[in-house]
Amino acid sequence: MNQRLEAVVTDALAALHGVLEKHRVNEDEWHAALAFLTEVGRADEFILLSDVTRTSVLIDALTHGGDDSGATASDVEGPMYTVEPPFRKKIYEEYEGMGDDDPLFVRGTVTSAGGGPLPDAVVDVWQTGPAGGYDVWDERQPEGNFRGRVRAEQDGSYEFQTMLPKPYTVPTTGPVGRYLEAVGQHPWRPAHIHFKVTAPGHETLVTQVFFPDDPYLDNDTIGAVKQALVRPVERRNGHLECAFDIALRPS
Ligand code: BEZ
Ligand code: FE
Repeated sequence: MNQRLEAVVTDALAALHGVLEKHRVNEDEWHAALAFLTEVGRADEFILLSDVTRTSVLIDALTHGGDDSGATASDVEGPMYTVEPPFRKKIYEEYEGMGDDDPLFVRGTVTSAGGGPLPDAVVDVWQTGPAGGYDVWDERQPEGNFRGRVRAEQDGSYEFQTMLPKPYTVPTTGPVGRYLEAVGQHPWRPAHIHFKVTAPGHETLVTQVFFPDDPYLDNDTIGAVKQALVRPVERRNGHLECAFDIALRPS
């Protein structure tokens, strides 16, 4: 028997039964709840449900919250990561309707929270475009657009070229969209860039970078904004710049 599983399941069922009793949930309501969860599974929306119920944020905090190593704050991965995007400095191709915003250069250094640069670090990023959301939601964008990996230089520095993302709504056309509507929760996320950073001898860091003055910084639908991850963007002769230094926890 798995003792931890048994302990968690016992408490989870006690909490669930308590809620059902408190609200006198009836058979029709319970069957509707089961049908909803069945639909969530069929639509492959369980990560999305975990995110919008802010359960992913809680699990992130329970997993990484006590970290006092000096490592960069973690954040939730969300459902949009795809493995092994190409190594490239410019992570996008132009597409129709993307607008004429100036490019954004994101730069920083990957170091060990234990000290010293990490020249073998791989910085894997994904984000929405300046118009139209993620590549997989937007048929105007080539597959894999606004996704890419760069390897840190000998001094730990990294850089990639992208465009400043905009706020977007999480998917609303499936069962989770119906849930959001039913509970009166808006579907917007503030603009952000996702990072997954790996280096030998260090724990993988999954995080997100946000930008100041975003209308959804204080009310992200998945509740994932951390002030420590908000980074200014500066305009310099025809382009934008954002600095993001990353420290990884030794494993
Ligand atoms: C994201 O940040 O990529 C995301 C999070 C929750 C739902 C959909 C997308
Ligand atoms: Fe995202």
